[in-house]
Amino acid sequence: MNIAQIATTRRTCKAFDPARKIDAAVLADLKTVLRYAPSSVNSQPWHFVIAGSDAGKETLAATLDGAFAYNAGKVRGASHVVVFCARTTLDDTHLNTLLAQEESDGRFATPEAKAGQANSRGFYVTLHRDQLNDLDAWADRQIYIALGNLLQAAAAVGVDACPMEGIDVAALDTALGLPEKGLRAVVMCALGYSSEQDFNAKLPKSRLPAEVVFSEI
Ligand SMILES: Cc1cc2nc3c(=O)[nH]c(=O)nc-3n(C[C@H](O)[C@H](O)[C@H](O)COP(=O)(O)O)c2cc1C
Repeated sequence: MNIAQIATTRRTCKAFDPARKIDAAVLADLKTVLRYAPSSVNSQPWHFVIAGSDAGKETLAATLDGAFAYNAGKVRGASHVVVFCARTTLDDTHLNTLLAQEESDGRFATPEAKAGQANSRGFYVTLHRDQLNDLDAWADRQIYIALGNLLQAAAAVGVDACPMEGIDVAALDTALGLPEKGLRAVVMCALGYSSEQDFNAKLPKSRLPAEVVFSEI
């Protein structure tokens, strides 16, 4: 399948077959897609909690009640569930870790190149933290790039996915002890294989027409 065929045939999975698990090699590839997602100034403001055990998935499912109860069955039936977390701060420790990683990965031919990267990243972090006051929203935007990449990649390897904003992020934060780790939950994605009960797999895709969503200039 080419990328357009993947985009037009992938569907959000509304019910997973709990008996079908994602092969370890396929899961490793999907984790690579997450780790290598692009982010502004390579800020990588994320951490991914992956629940593959029944106990892990139950911990997540137990946070989904009230308005979000409709997503609990997806979490329990999935093979794996990814909780996309954002760092609550982009402090000097994180910025220094990024710079050291880039250096050990061979990205700086000169001390000036290293200083340039530190300055550029520092500028954007300062801009969002101290001037625009939107550091959390900025981090969330990067995280949604990782989510988008995961959805397309999962479809490419035949894994069904359900992205979920219908989650209780405060309950997830508590259940996973995220604030103590400098993290907060943003969005979740269940991965696995559709069951017969997946009504969305039988429905046609629906999108606005090209002439509505594109303008050529
Ligand atoms: C960020 C995001 C959050 C979503 N949250 C939920 C959710 O909580 N529960 C659910 O069943 N579907 C959820 N969806 C699935 C959307 O409803 C679905 O992507 C949309 O209707 C288009 O259908 P398709 O993915 O099958 O093409 C979400 C999708 C995205 C991208």
